[in-house]
Amino acid sequence: MRRKLAAGNWKMNGALAALSELDALQEAASGDAEVLICPPATLIASAAAKSGKVAIGGQDCHAAASGAHTGDISAPMLREAGATYVILGHSERRADHGETDAVVAAKTQAAWDARLIAIVCVGETLDDRERGKTLDVIGAQLAGSLPDDVTGANTVVAYEPVWAIGTGKVPTTDQIAEVHNFIRATLIQRFGNEIASAVRLLYGGSVKASNATQIFAVPDVDGALVGGASLKASDFAPIVDALNAA
Ligand code: 13P
Repeated sequence: MRRKLAAGNWKMNGALAALSELDALQEAASGDAEVLICPPATLIASAAAKSGKVAIGGQDCHAAASGAHTGDISAPMLREAGATYVILGHSERRADHGETDAVVAAKTQAAWDARLIAIVCVGETLDDRERGKTLDVIGAQLAGSLPDDVTGANTVVAYEPVWAIGTGKVPTTDQIAEVHNFIRATLIQRFGNEIASAVRLLYGGSVKASNATQIFAVPDVDGALVGGASLKASDFAPIVDALNAA
């Protein structure tokens, strides 16, 4: 049985005052689904100190555990600050920082070494989709971004179509089902049925309370990676509630 996961990615948003949102999430986080908030790195320690039933994660880590990498943060540092998860290979990191699949794989290994659960993101651009390349692109990202030792306990895969992030555009449930099905089949082929069946698959991209129930009804959708609608508990809690009801 895969435990459902509602993950919030605050991106570069939120000040100390925003941590009061964690208090307002406690009730929603009391259900079966796991609730995770990934705030900016500067807030992780403060968030972890008052997170209650909500898990805390980072949004990126360096592939090395320490060293001369000005401005970067390592997986052991995230872990020490109280994170248990880290988002890796988000399309904004791939685009803004030129992260390749190989970089994402190295970061994933570093996350595992620090006992963090890696949420590895994949997703096609609009151009990829229009050219009929969606599954090819996602297959290549999975092949290159996941190291060999994937388990259901150390890895979550998030499908985030780039064109759906922050745009209000959401794929049809058939399109989400096609990709999630493909991801599951790809994982089975590489890691075997037992391991692949334990890996949670999240959908991300313009998830809101108004579309969550529909998305969570799609087979092989084990939860969501939510950006804008995770910033306020009043928006995120109904999404968590929809996941608990799914
Ligand atoms: P939005 O929910 O704001 O579209 O962002 C999705 C996302 O990128 C989460 O990682």
